[in-house]
Amino acid sequence: MTVHIATPPTVPGTRIAGLGHYRPDNVVTNDDLAQHIETNDAWIRSRVGIEERRYSSSDETVASMGASAGRAALADAGLTPADIDAVITATCTLEAPIPHASTRIAAALGIHAPGSFDVNAACAGFCYGLAVASQAVRSGNARNVLVVGSEKLTSWVDPKDRANSIIFADGAGAAVVTASDTEQIGPIAWGSDETQTETIYIADRNSFVYQEGQSVFRWATTAIAPVAVQAAKNAGIDLADVDIIACHQANLRIVEAIAKRLITAGARPDVRVARDIVTTGNTSSASIPIALDRMRAAGEAQRGDVVLAVGFGAGLTYASQVFVCP
Ligand SMILES: CC(C)(COP(=O)(O)OP(=O)(O)OC[C@H]1O[C@@H](n2cnc3c(N)ncnc32)[C@H](O)[C@@H]1OP(=O)(O)O)[C@@H](O)C(=O)NCCC(=O)NCCS
Repeated sequence: MTVHIATPPTVPGTRIAGLGHYRPDNVVTNDDLAQHIETNDAWIRSRVGIEERRYSSSDETVASMGASAGRAALADAGLTPADIDAVITATCTLEAPIPHASTRIAAALGIHAPGSFDVNAACAGFCYGLAVASQAVRSGNARNVLVVGSEKLTSWVDPKDRANSIIFADGAGAAVVTASDTEQIGPIAWGSDETQTETIYIADRNSFVYQEGQSVFRWATTAIAPVAVQAAKNAGIDLADVDIIACHQANLRIVEAIAKRLITAGARPDVRVARDIVTTGNTSSASIPIALDRMRAAGEAQRGDVVLAVGFGAGLTYASQVFVCP
């Protein structure tokens, strides 16, 4: 028997209506780290470009940090919890697999009965979450969706591992996706390299993150810029139209290498590049919204700027899209 399944009315486009972020208060400098592991400020600055990072306290969680970022994003969008139909959290550092972070974030913010689930695409997670949210709004399945990237990497990094503990940190960023008369979030360019599943991993609940640092570095500095180029193509824009490159803040040398390749491919030499890694560290799926929101606060990003975002990390997986800055 053939049935006709109804679909909701669609909307012409989607946009990010608001952004927010949360960084824990505890600032950890390179000199602080050097008190516990054999490292030094000059080595860390030259290899990964980080001067300081933020560590959460023992009572802060993926959900509590995500809720703080989400609250700020809602306020920025001028919306209330009652306006939100779905919550999507990108995270790869949840303290326990259930319940998922989105339901706790919804509870903390007073968002009643939303569609709610988490996405784990490691450091690419925010771009994946944004794409799913945009599709949900565009297809008429939700009016407004709260997308959160929240990570407590310090739960999963061995403080004595001097390669990883210098890089990773904690924090959360969030965006509210809403309907728009014109398209302001481009199609996603996504993919993964399933031959590199063991390049970054956590073996089990009693283990810390392991990564082959040099393999990740080589991959990120060669394979990721072409993904961002593809995202610009998918959106039908020239790279010269991009005002801001917002890469996942993995490591300053990776960020600079990707930006250089994008400039060679046609981005303007004066394109603004998010370099939030320097004072925030690598916060995985939270890094793109934190970086962009902090650029707005510093006056380095304005409403209407064309942003090219690209996330990449464990999987190995990657995703990129163009969107207009709120
Ligand atoms: C992690 C990373 C900084 C390590 O740098 P590296 O040059 O590859 O370091 P290696 O592990 O090869 O070690 C090189 C030397 O530096 C030393 N070293 C490593 N970490 C150090 C630290 N924090 N301080 C001082 N020395 C350190 C090593 O012991 C080694 O010394 P040796 O030559 O005497 O044995 C680098 O591989 C990197 O940035 N990779 C990308 C990681 C990343 O961005 N991941 C995020 C993905 S989302």
